[in-house]
Amino acid sequence: MDLIPAPRIAVPHEGGHHHAFGADPALDAGPGTEDTARWLRRELGAATGWSLPDAAPGEPGELRLRIDPVRAGGTGGSGGSGGSGPEAYRIDIGADGVELTGASGAGLFWAAQTLRQLLGPDAYRRAPLPGRTWSVPYAAVADGPRFGWRGMMLDVARHFMPKDGVLRYIDLLAAHKLNVLHLHLTDDQGWRVEIKRHPRLTEVGAWRARSRWGHRASPLWSETPHGGFYTQDDIREIVAYAAERHVRVVPEIDVPGHSQAAIAAYPELGNTDVVDTAALEVWDDWGITANVLAPTEAVLRFYEGVFEELLELFPAEVSPFVHVGGDECPKEQWRASATAQARIAELGADGEDGLQSWFIRHFDGWLAERGRRLIGWDEILEGGLAPGAAVSSWRGYAGGIAAAEAGHDVVMCPEQQVYLDHRQAGGPDEPVPIGYVRSLEDVYRFEPVPPKLSPDAAAHVLGAQANVWTEVMEHQGRVDYQVFPRLAAFAEVVWSWQPAPEERDFAGFEERMATHYRRLDALGVGYRPPGGPLPWQRRPGVLGRPIEGEPPNV
Ligand code: ACM
Repeated sequence: MDLIPAPRIAVPHEGGHHHAFGADPALDAGPGTEDTARWLRRELGAATGWSLPDAAPGEPGELRLRIDPVRAGGTGGSGGSGGSGPEAYRIDIGADGVELTGASGAGLFWAAQTLRQLLGPDAYRRAPLPGRTWSVPYAAVADGPRFGWRGMMLDVARHFMPKDGVLRYIDLLAAHKLNVLHLHLTDDQGWRVEIKRHPRLTEVGAWRARSRWGHRASPLWSETPHGGFYTQDDIREIVAYAAERHVRVVPEIDVPGHSQAAIAAYPELGNTDVVDTAALEVWDDWGITANVLAPTEAVLRFYEGVFEELLELFPAEVSPFVHVGGDECPKEQWRASATAQARIAELGADGEDGLQSWFIRHFDGWLAERGRRLIGWDEILEGGLAPGAAVSSWRGYAGGIAAAEAGHDVVMCPEQQVYLDHRQAGGPDEPVPIGYVRSLEDVYRFEPVPPKLSPDAAAHVLGAQANVWTEVMEHQGRVDYQVFPRLAAFAEVVWSWQPAPEERDFAGFEERMATHYRRLDALGVGYRPPGGPLPWQRRPGVLGRPIEGEPPNV
């Protein structure tokens, strides 16, 4: 069946029978299954030409959709034959057709994704091939995810991905049963979300004059101005489109570092007693700039305004978490700033680090008062956090371990394992090669839960996400190349109930990938082929960032 991610249990019936679908199968969509019915009509309808008419009352439809937590195996730890929890599902295919049963709407939707895989790669096309008929093997599938947070972070700040690309990525995540899209919406190089009360954030902050072409070591520049942003209605569309596909969108506004685009738009946000912030522009280079937010009440009020609009755009039901960044905030301007030093004295803060912690804690409390949960990069742990806050562990596992042992929820995304901007092979042909070599097999053997974690702490690992930083991904084709096929391996890590890393059957995964590449082909995904980049995927002469003086694999 070549399913990816691998289901918990998939048993083909003996005898090799197939259910051959009729010319236009009748769909019997039970209560609560409307969104999956819509999706099937839209996506399978496009590929097959089916309209999937409603089954006549009392008639069994050829394709049946049901919500039933008990039958789907979603009622608890060991009770179900498949996974457990609300995202569990089962599929039964026999002489009377196909039945998809979800423990919830989400479980049912993942069942529909599995059905699409069972139909074959042509089920991913947008128009039917002439004469094509459709069948699926008689089988029983019982399945459910290992983790509830199965995500990808997309950096739309360094290179903007227009809205249609984001919607396409939501479909790609859903096709792999991933359920979180973390959007890195702001950084030094661009501000990507319209904020009505602060219009210059996008009028000025969404555009830069030029970009470095290649990573920091590269002497080349692209003189093409770059930018773009999502209007508030674009965000509403993205959030609703994702919700219909059971994908949650986590917005990130990065503070107090990574903020030069905001300062270029509103110079009063910066440390005006140290630098002439009015002369700053949206940054055209990569790396970490010293231009960070000023630690003042006025800056807090400004960002409260930003978050107020953000909370309206990302409703709590679909986006309970709000990411505030918190990473890589250089303290040199605060050390030099009389205003910042006065603030430290007034707060009795523990130096500049205490100031950063004050900044993050302010929004921790502010979000909690509004029924939301703060999440931030693991630097936010440094000053101590309120109990409800969660941590994205990116600097290896250490931050995640410390956070989980302290009772915080954690999303594992260690740079050394699941940063998909890092190159996926060591050869000279990788486009703008960065950092660690992390092959498809390396990602397949990533383990989100560190072995030494106590069972109580392990329960705080919500799951994991792969992070996609786009400094050297100037368009969607480059993003596809870095993300695929590794995201398929990542999906199996976070969905499937895998043995320890060294015991995982990578050869078996590669065999299933042969079919999966054909699905990706039908979807138009510009993945890295197993043999290496195609000519147009290379970037000869554009320097990446192999790190000097580090071990040979980085
Ligand atoms: C990060 O990679 N700076 C979170």
